[in-house]
Amino acid sequence: MKDPKRYLVTAALPYANGPLHIGHIAGAYLPADIYVRYLRLKGKDVAFICGSDEHGVPITLRSRKEGISPQKIVDKYHEINRKGFEDLGIEFDIYHRTSDPLHHQTASDFFRTLYEKGEFVEKEEEQFYDEAENQFLADRYIVGTCPHCNYDKAYGDQCEQCGASLSPKELIDPVSALSGNKPQLKRTRHWYLPLDKHQDEWLEQWIDSHSQDWKSNVYGQCKSWLNQRLHPRAVTRDLEWGVPVPVEGTEGKVLYVWFDAPIGYISATKAWAEQQGKDWEKYWKDEETSLIHFIGKDNIVFHCLIFPSMLKAHGGYILPDNVPANEFLNLEGDKLSTSRNWAVWINEFVEDFPDKIDTLRYTLAANFPEQKDNDFTWKDFQNRHNNELVAVLGNFVNRALVLTKKYFNKQVPEVTEWTDYDRDIIRRAAQIKEDLEDRIEHYKFREAVKLAMDIGRLGNKYLADTEPWSLYKEDPGRVATILNLSLQLAASISIVIEPFLPFTAERLRNFLNIGQLNWELAGKPDILKPGHEVKKPKHLFQKIEDQTVERQLEKLKEARRKKEQEEQGVEPAKENISFDDFSRLDIRVGQILEAEKVPKTKKLMKLTVDTGLDQRTVVAGIAEQFSPEQVRGKQVSIAVNLEPKKIKGIQSQGMILMAEDAQGNLTFLSPGTPTQKGAVVK
Ligand code: MF3
Ligand code: ZN
Repeated sequence: MKDPKRYLVTAALPYANGPLHIGHIAGAYLPADIYVRYLRLKGKDVAFICGSDEHGVPITLRSRKEGISPQKIVDKYHEINRKGFEDLGIEFDIYHRTSDPLHHQTASDFFRTLYEKGEFVEKEEEQFYDEAENQFLADRYIVGTCPHCNYDKAYGDQCEQCGASLSPKELIDPVSALSGNKPQLKRTRHWYLPLDKHQDEWLEQWIDSHSQDWKSNVYGQCKSWLNQRLHPRAVTRDLEWGVPVPVEGTEGKVLYVWFDAPIGYISATKAWAEQQGKDWEKYWKDEETSLIHFIGKDNIVFHCLIFPSMLKAHGGYILPDNVPANEFLNLEGDKLSTSRNWAVWINEFVEDFPDKIDTLRYTLAANFPEQKDNDFTWKDFQNRHNNELVAVLGNFVNRALVLTKKYFNKQVPEVTEWTDYDRDIIRRAAQIKEDLEDRIEHYKFREAVKLAMDIGRLGNKYLADTEPWSLYKEDPGRVATILNLSLQLAASISIVIEPFLPFTAERLRNFLNIGQLNWELAGKPDILKPGHEVKKPKHLFQKIEDQTVERQLEKLKEARRKKEQEEQGVEPAKENISFDDFSRLDIRVGQILEAEKVPKTKKLMKLTVDTGLDQRTVVAGIAEQFSPEQVRGKQVSIAVNLEPKKIKGIQSQGMILMAEDAQGNLTFLSPGTPTQKGAVVK
């Protein structure tokens, strides 16, 4: 849309069931923030909307597993993620949440309108039901073997090994994730959005109308869905956590999370408009509003096909103008993964690098997976910081300020006369500003961030070519002109880096002693007036040392190792103790002389052990795995200086040492070759 009256920019509502990592940020939130900051610099009317997506099966599953209410879980992560965005300088106008009553009301009304207009198809169908848990199983609750690749932990909606999208009935040997039982088929009634009808009536045509202005990865994915033909999609679920279906006689049913969540954009806009005394409907219903959804690629079908169909079915709403989805970001050459703990978590990054937020933004923007998946590495983080932010941007700004202080007492000097070379520099700066606009408006942020840096490169080249430091004695007038232009370039930089590096832009404005300037001034040669006083020069950035990033790499690998061990059931390591603590233990080789089961217990066996020091009685929990015959005569390790303890009325003097694996299997720690009774284990 050319020159819309206002913009409504949304960023996918993150699920409030876990913390955010750099993949989320690079996928949707940082591109959106860059875009919005740019629009704000241009003085546009923008609402930037986000919030927590607080429904959905994973939250329910987790709540059951941890015995905490779903509300407690989403409260926790809503706050963590809200703060994470704030720390990264991602400035939404509102960070709302879908458990808010205003959202429940909005989603509920939306559903009812479609229901009353007859926009749904009602179907009764057989679905899997868990008898033990007394409930229908959402697709995610059903686990079985994938019919395509034989992976035995495929979900009812998708196989995470081969990526196939599945329906629960395709799974081989399905079991309920709740009880582990085989689920039964039972009839249930649901409402479906007839996407096939929408495809034929308008949707496919509408998508086609965006073949040129939408990103090819987005348009391509839409076409591929359409080519396989859309099917009616259930928009209700048999679940407890969610927005209740607002129809009589539907207890135990809620709206499907992907039905209610995008309506969350609408409720968030309402909440924001209310706070601001604005009219929310202007942002959703006026044809002169440009609606832009920033998302990751796994959200394309919902934002380009399903949500538009919902809006169309409802009537009165505008449709998105663009849906600039990114592909996925990898980390050190490997897929980012929460379950394998391979990620840079935002809260940890902020803690480790409170003054390097812009470096993260810069590195991510330079590596945005705009057309295909791309990689983040710590080495690149360091290199971009040291070779670009420090060496190009920081260096140029610092030289301009140092020379201004040295020759002109921190005051912007007056231009004596522009040379042809100066005019060429001015032209190039103006050109960069124009190119930048073009790239941002076409969602090409990688090129844009490089262009923003180009003004710094231009400045460095200008100083290197003109060498003001060797001219002052002969020609102070020329030096005045050079420094004037250098400071104008620095001021332009403070404008064009603002979308990408907001914290640095603020520092730079402070160095230059100016406030935030309008975008249109960027690239102009007269932003700062002669005589304006700048501040004492300081450095914009400090270098990042090798060991800093090496430590991060170590941390990453360590976290993954821990997770793998956890998965294999290896207990986490205990804290270190002193050598002294250890030497206080008295462990000996002993021989089991007698063994008998302790009556009326399952596990306990009463042993008589010859410790070399004495013969004593020890009670051990080994009776489930060993018979008395198996242990009689065995040499074992025994801790002999433990306080005696009464177990089932028997005084137990010491402890037989056993190795126990994750399944609870026990093995005696016997000497490899028979040895003397009473030999010390150390
Ligand atoms: N919670 C979803 C995700 O993280 C995104 C929801 S976007 C919305 O993939 F439009 F539904 F809100
Ligand atoms: Zn599979």
